[in-house]
Amino acid sequence: MPSLRHQALAVVLEPNADAKAALARTLDVHAPIDSSITFPTPEGIPGRPARPELFPKLQYKKKPLTSVEGRAELLHSLAHIELNAIDLAADVVWRFAGMPEDFYRQWAQVAREEALHFQLLRDHLRSMGHDYGDFPAHTGLWDMAEKTRHDVLARLALVPRTLEARGLDASPVVKNKLVGAGDHRAGEILDIILRDEIGHVAVGNHWYRYLCAQRGLDPVQTYAQLASEHGAPRLQGPFNLAARQAAGFTSEELAALA
Ligand SMILES: [Fe+2]
Ligand SMILES: [Fe+2]
Repeated sequence: MPSLRHQALAVVLEPNADAKAALARTLDVHAPIDSSITFPTPEGIPGRPARPELFPKLQYKKKPLTSVEGRAELLHSLAHIELNAIDLAADVVWRFAGMPEDFYRQWAQVAREEALHFQLLRDHLRSMGHDYGDFPAHTGLWDMAEKTRHDVLARLALVPRTLEARGLDASPVVKNKLVGAGDHRAGEILDIILRDEIGHVAVGNHWYRYLCAQRGLDPVQTYAQLASEHGAPRLQGPFNLAARQAAGFTSEELAALA
């Protein structure tokens, strides 16, 4: 049986979106782990399909959500986030050596859930006559993975605790828009995603605090420093404080958002 970290690397390298998601769902969280290996970074990280076309920033006029096209465009952007999230979770597993076994098993489980999210959104898109790849998409999420590839602490601060946590804030707003436009299936999918994402941010918070304690760092000050060093997006409300609290942000961290 290939080790869990080898399995995770294969997920990140897979270019085909459907195959990547299917492979991620087979990640065996009970597989053996060798935490001491430092893998050389292979070419082609992350594997990406030929479509959608990717841009650093997307600037286009959004279509109204009253149209199928407008809803498909929004669901496509969510599917793109989930595809990136598969890579982001799997990347943590192969890339960073020297962590406890639970670290790798928990991130592999996150990757499995991201793959389910991608598949739910893709299947819904297909039911609307669309598919993943039909609309342009952005590179923003992987850009942050690149910037933080040298340090697991920076990665956890800026990916799960920043980008994924922003997803917690955005979720109720997006859900209301889609359900308001009559797309109840999208509402159900977003409920599943939000439930799981609280868990992902909690995993991020747990290991971020573990590393801060190990390095003798203050979690709040360190976050501010890492966010400014890496040009993290400014956090803007409204915040989903209940979800953030459930994901393990402290009252001091929640107060710092305001
Ligand atoms: Fe997700
Ligand atoms: Fe996630």
